[in-house]
Amino acid sequence: MAADFTKGNSQVAAIVVAAGSGVRLRAGIPKALVRVGGKSLVLWAVQALAFGGVTEVVVVAPTGQLTDFEEALSFAPVPCLVVAGGATRGQSVANGLQALNASSTTADVVLVHDAARPLVPGEVVARVIAAVQDGATVVVPVVPISDTVRQLTTAGSAVIERSSLRAVQTPQGFRRDVLTQTYTQTDIAATDDATLAERLGHVVKLVEGSPSAMKVTNPHDLMMVSAMLEV
Ligand code: CTP
Ligand code: MG
Repeated sequence: MAADFTKGNSQVAAIVVAAGSGVRLRAGIPKALVRVGGKSLVLWAVQALAFGGVTEVVVVAPTGQLTDFEEALSFAPVPCLVVAGGATRGQSVANGLQALNASSTTADVVLVHDAARPLVPGEVVARVIAAVQDGATVVVPVVPISDTVRQLTTAGSAVIERSSLRAVQTPQGFRRDVLTQTYTQTDIAATDDATLAERLGHVVKLVEGSPSAMKVTNPHDLMMVSAMLEV
């Protein structure tokens, strides 16, 4: 689909990484194309971002499946540019960012979101955007951990004080120049984007995430998402 990224200067862009194969979900198709409640996970994710204030999206899809993704997104509420991903999540983000920077976008806020988190509430998206617009360079939504956590040690294991721990979600928000600098200067080997930016000295601001922003990894998670849509 031709993307029209030329609307004004209050644009907020997002890179939705959807190029994984979903080995653990075992659906036989890319995880982001799996349908729940009548829509693919990638469409749910784009709709959630748009609801929270994102105005344009680069969707990073598996090579060879770009047309399937374009079809899945043909009724998306914001312009979506579909580009090919890489072998790792980090490489997929880098590809998406390159496409975004090559487009006509004027957005200076960029969110990076997992297609595997289809039901992130619009209010979490809006919170991440607002924090960047208020001056933070790197913003991460987090939730408290409800399980007791044990760390394996040489002697066996030890409980970690849970009250000081937070689980990290997406979308993560960045000032666009900071995300670009991050992907130009680091080796793209970290499980999340904020961690890379932190290595360059940027301070990570935490905002409140939501249990609804859970990541679909296993078949059980898909059942949870399906149940969440029914209530
Ligand atoms: N991702 C990506 N490119 C990759 C690997 C992952 O864009 N090479 C994306 C996935 O599509 C997903 C997000 O990164 O939206 C988080 O990854 P994960 O949950 O691990 O998804 P998959 O890699 O698809 O799942 P699995 O690890 O079970 O194969
Ligand atoms: Mg994976």
